[in-house]
Amino acid sequence: MAILHWFAQVGTQQPGGGRAGMFATRHKKSLGKCAKRFSIRAMRNGASAHFARANTLVPPRWRKEVERILITDRQIARRVRQMACEIQRDFAGRETVVIALLNGTMMFLADLIRNLSLPLRLDFMGVSSYGLGTEAREVMFTKELRLDVRGRDVLLVDDILDTGRTLSRVLPKIQALKPRRIKTCVLLDKVARREEDVEADYVGFEIPDFFVVGYGLDFAERYRNLPFVGVLHPHVYKAAIKSVNCKR
Ligand code: IMP
Ligand code: MG
Repeated sequence: MAILHWFAQVGTQQPGGGRAGMFATRHKKSLGKCAKRFSIRAMRNGASAHFARANTLVPPRWRKEVERILITDRQIARRVRQMACEIQRDFAGRETVVIALLNGTMMFLADLIRNLSLPLRLDFMGVSSYGLGTEAREVMFTKELRLDVRGRDVLLVDDILDTGRTLSRVLPKIQALKPRRIKTCVLLDKVARREEDVEADYVGFEIPDFFVVGYGLDFAERYRNLPFVGVLHPHVYKAAIKSVNCKR
């Protein structure tokens, strides 16, 4: 139950008016199950149940915008190496095509494939689902595949599995190209937000319902360059929404 308490506590500080906190109070039973799964998975992943320790300080340059670090660069590096080992075992001896979704995967992808000793080819699909805000919108394709994946083993890489809309649109598109099989790999999984019936085969970290940035993930195209995964201060969202309203 400690983790549930933590959900409620951090929820009150998170962007979006403490949605996780209210969620925790309203859905104690189901969240208890989710929290248990999340903490077990987090521990299995080598991250503590609290992810970054309380004394993991946000670097001074980012302190005004980033409220706290959820997953440190060391935790990410360790987990990415573990994921690469699993993938390498499952794809050994196969003609593999790695398909990464732009733009959020760039750091994760670079770290993942440098740990893969497989004869792979790499291609990208451009998919956009978020505008300026933090709420998911319709999925748009901005770049199509170039490589032929027919009869190949495909590893589809995305940064985060949230509502599941993106993967549930992308997967049938690739399936129509007749690959031998498709496995999906995401760095982060926000299980509590799922709307579509889709799961990833390889998951780095299951995280609670926070809008996170860093390590490739953005808010309004910013913060992709942070080496850690962090949670933004609410005032950053408010300022962005205000400036859009002023321009209208
Ligand atoms: P889904 O379609 O709702 O599953 O969302 C997947 C896409 O939304 C990801 O590929 C991300 O680009 C974006 N996304 C979802 N949650 C976050 C977040 O917390 N921070 C940044 N981007 C996110
Ligand atoms: Mg994305």
